[in-house]
Order: sequence, then C-alpha cells, then structure tokens
Amino acid sequence: SKAPIRVAVTGAAGQIGYALLFRIASGAMFGPDQPVILQLIEAPFEKPLAALAGVAMELDDCAFPLLKGIVQTSDPAVGFKDANWCLLVGAKPRGPGMERADLLKDNGKIFIEQGKIIDAVAADDARIAVVGNPANTNCMIAASQAKRLPAERFTAMVRLDQNRAQTQLAQKAGVDLTEVKDIFIYGNHSPTMFPSFAHATIAGKPAKEVINDNAWLEGPFCETVGKRGAAIIAARGSSSAASAANALVDHVRSLVTPGAIHSIAVKSNGLYGFDANVWAGMPVRTTTAGSYEVITGYEMDDFAKSKIAATNKELTDERSFVADML
Ligand code: NAI
Repeated sequence: SKAPIRVAVTGAAGQIGYALLFRIASGAMFGPDQPVILQLIEAPFEKPLAALAGVAMELDDCAFPLLKGIVQTSDPAVGFKDANWCLLVGAKPRGPGMERADLLKDNGKIFIEQGKIIDAVAADDARIAVVGNPANTNCMIAASQAKRLPAERFTAMVRLDQNRAQTQLAQKAGVDLTEVKDIFIYGNHSPTMFPSFAHATIAGKPAKEVINDNAWLEGPFCETVGKRGAAIIAARGSSSAASAANALVDHVRSLVTPGAIHSIAVKSNGLYGFDANVWAGMPVRTTTAGSYEVITGYEMDDFAKSKIAATNKELTDERSFVADML
C-alpha cells in the first residue's frame, strides 16, 4: 500500500476546518487509496486548542481507514514538519471597525511566519494552498519568504468562485451543471474577481450563444458570483464554510489530477494583463501531480479587459499596503 502523505491544515478548528478534515480523511481530496496523516495547527489559545482536541476525537470516532495519524499543535514548526501539502485556512478575521490595511498587515505577519517555517521544514515536494483571506495577497506574502520552495508551489483558492459561476450558468441555461465547461476565474478572490463567461461552453457550444443574454452575463451573473459570499452571510448568519471546504477539496484534487483544467490563483508573471508580482486567478492545466501550466491565449474583449484591470488594481493596491513586509 502507498505511504501516507502529510497534510498540514491551519485554522483546523475553525468552521471551514470542521467541514474539511473529514473529507480529507475519507479520501475525497487525495483519492480512495491514498493514506493521509493530518497535521492540525491552531492559534496558541486555550479555546481553539480545546476545540481542536474535540475535532481530533471526532476524527478518531469516524474510524477512517485512510487516516494514519493526527498531530495537534499550535507550533507551526511541528505542524508543517515534512508536510507534503500545507493548507493555509487559518487567518485573522476582519474585526468591527477594522481598516482593510490593518487586516492586510495583521494577516501579513501570520503569513510571513508561516511562509518562512514552511520553507524551512516542509517536505521537498511541498505544495501550499491558501484559503485564509485576503487569500491572494496572503499567498503572495508566504511565497515571498520561500527560498527553497519555488513560487509556483504557492497557490490561492478561487475554486469556490469557479464552482459558483458554473452553477449559475447551468441554472440560467437550464442544463445539468456537468454540461458547463471552461468557466475560469481571473484575479482576486473578492467581489472584483472576473468569471470569464466568454470562453465558457455549455454542451459544447459557446455559453454566450446558449444563454443569449449579454446584459445578464455582464451584469447579474458577474454580480451574483462576486457577491455570493455576502449573500450567504446574510442568509446563514455566518460565512460559507462547507462550500469553501468543498472548493479546497476540488482545488487540490484537480491539482493532483494530470490533465485537469481549472482555476487557481498563481504568480501572474504578467499574463492576461496582471502585474507580474501579484497572485491572480487564471486558467491552468495540471501537468503532473502537483504541477500545472497556465493556459494562455484566451482573447479578452473590452469588457473582459476592464474587469481584469479592476481586479488587478485591487491586487496591486493590496500589494502596496504590505510592500514593506515583503
Ligand atoms: P473561522 O474563524 O471559523 O476559523 C479560522 C480558524 O483559524 C480559527 O479557529 C482560528 O483560531 C484559526 N487561526 C487564526 N490564526 C491562526 C494562525 N496564525 N495559525 C493557525 N490557526 C489560526 O474561519 P473560517 O470560516 O474557517 O474561514 C477561514 C478563512 O477562510 C477566513 O479567512 C475566510 O475569510 C477564508 N475564506 C476563504 C474563501 C476562499 O474562497 N478563498 C472562502 C471562504 C472563507
């Protein structure tokens, strides 16, 4: 049987953690024949660590055949030790009256520390996926600390936005959602991100032709996807957690599946009009397990260009807020 892979998860006792760990342990993320060891990292306070102990008890009580060990720690040097995957879910939430710049800086400190420690102690083949917000900029900050691990190993999650967009297109067209392909998310994981409907297909035909309502695509469609997080908070009283955890399962599953075509946020290197040094959502194709190439060559019309310029501006603004930390 295969050797277990080590999966470090920060924020493991949070609400996404609670929806995520059981799916990793059941085989949904790495496949039904891949054993895992969970290395769970929480903030160094009594409450989250007590909650983490409870989550670990529940994981034990599931008797998952693939789960070969659980580490519980508040020490990132222990939690990231030899990790093959580092899933950075924990982050400091925006408090009442808190400025965006302060949020960026507070999270910046966390992701500088984690980036340094991952680079020092994680496995040679380590891959890092960032969910904690502001995810793209946190990912950029963590990557900026790495000397051993190349920048391409650090990705941020825009898959929840992709999944939301896929469902919206399918519901509008009245088709099964598996008919919707090549819907990609460009830019920041925030309301400015751009779901590029012009390249999507529905049952093999251009989505624009099938939907035949450009005003809906440019207006309500983009808005619904962009503001879905806020709609869920308004309806549920807390932010999306199960769908975010599911999106991370998809993000990693696609990244370990050669040939998979999906959106992740990566170092832009200037592609699609993004600043070279920001982490922006774009379409990728998984080459070998854990590696990918950006799919280039999609033509952008004026509408797409203006949306990309707006989300790029937000990313470069975020970058300038934390420039002194990089
Ligand atoms: P939560 O507040 O329920 O859980 C976060 C957990 O992280 C807490 O248990 C906290 O103690 C822990 N934590 C904080 N700092 C830490 C540190 N330095 N090291 C280890 N653990 C730490 O939040 P939730 O709902 O689980 O969301 C987590 C993050 O994911 C948030 O930043 C949220 O905005 C983000 N998110 C991102 C999405 C995306 O699509 N990229 C979608 C949904 C949420």
